[in-house]
Amino acid sequence: MKEQLVTKKILNWYDLNKRSLPWRKNVSLQKKQYYTLVSEFMLQQTQVVTVVPYFKRFINYIPNLKTLAKIDNTKLIKLWEGLGYYSRARNLKKTAKIIIKDFKGKLPNNFEDLITLPGIGNYTASAILAIAFNKPYIPLDGNIERVLKRYLYLKKDKEIQKDNLAQKKNIFGNTLRSSDYAQALMELGALICKPSNPICNQCPIRKNCKSYKKKDFSLTKSIKKNKNKYFILKVYKKKQRYLLIKNKKFNFLKNLSIFPMFELSNPKNFNENLNFKMSNMNMNIKIQYSKDNQKFPSSYWVDGKKLNSYMLPSFTKKVVQYLEKN
Ligand code: ADE
Repeated sequence: MKEQLVTKKILNWYDLNKRSLPWRKNVSLQKKQYYTLVSEFMLQQTQVVTVVPYFKRFINYIPNLKTLAKIDNTKLIKLWEGLGYYSRARNLKKTAKIIIKDFKGKLPNNFEDLITLPGIGNYTASAILAIAFNKPYIPLDGNIERVLKRYLYLKKDKEIQKDNLAQKKNIFGNTLRSSDYAQALMELGALICKPSNPICNQCPIRKNCKSYKKKDFSLTKSIKKNKNKYFILKVYKKKQRYLLIKNKKFNFLKNLSIFPMFELSNPKNFNENLNFKMSNMNMNIKIQYSKDNQKFPSSYWVDGKKLNSYMLPSFTKKVVQYLEKN
């Protein structure tokens, strides 16, 4: 089956079978962008069925970016109550404020700008570009990954790594309907190519699905090996206070407060002071006290004795606790 034919079949299936979801309504472009932003934040860690009533209530109370940027925090959290992962709500408001201030109130339509916004990583940026701006991105969520793995019968650890899946997604051909296409692939994964008991007899692309041919729909998970990484962490201390910066450099703890630090790629005789596990990374950290008053953009000082009064990632808190003890 040619790629283009696969694309056509998936889109035809979507046109007939898509769920009617509140963020899929036909609305003005500006509303579409706002709805996509809010729904993608909500959908980051929560399933569609749970999100629907929250989304409706949220949009009802906070109908646009301007209102969101000014919304009272208590009200915002109340609207999010039950969805969990509240940092999403806080990031969503921060993002709205930045869009108003730095992007003339318009949601950015390019990847580079989008990923600078709080709470927007690779996945959400791709989803927004595809869904709200009809750009040819295919966001790799769990649903699309599953469709890919089954369609191509990818099982080996090497094959199912993100990088490889990201390359393979090109087998889903091109279309001018990028917005529908991204959602169609997600929908296919959610409704047909389900984790267990996929409904293959209703699948529009089963003819060329390798798993279907083999009658083996089992999926494998990647064995995550923790990677050793090495960092020099700089401590600037004034009385009881430590200098922190907003992290723009590393992909982890993006936009959060960390100590100034840099990575060493191939250190020799590295004697770390601290170890910290973060996702699939084993961080080895060597601490260096510094006096030279280097200027850092967006830096500020926190009192080591009043740690709990700050919103800090647990990584930064652990470092301060270590410094206070040693
Ligand atoms: N999961 C993440 N984004 C989604 C969307 N727009 N529609 C359905 N499921 C999703």
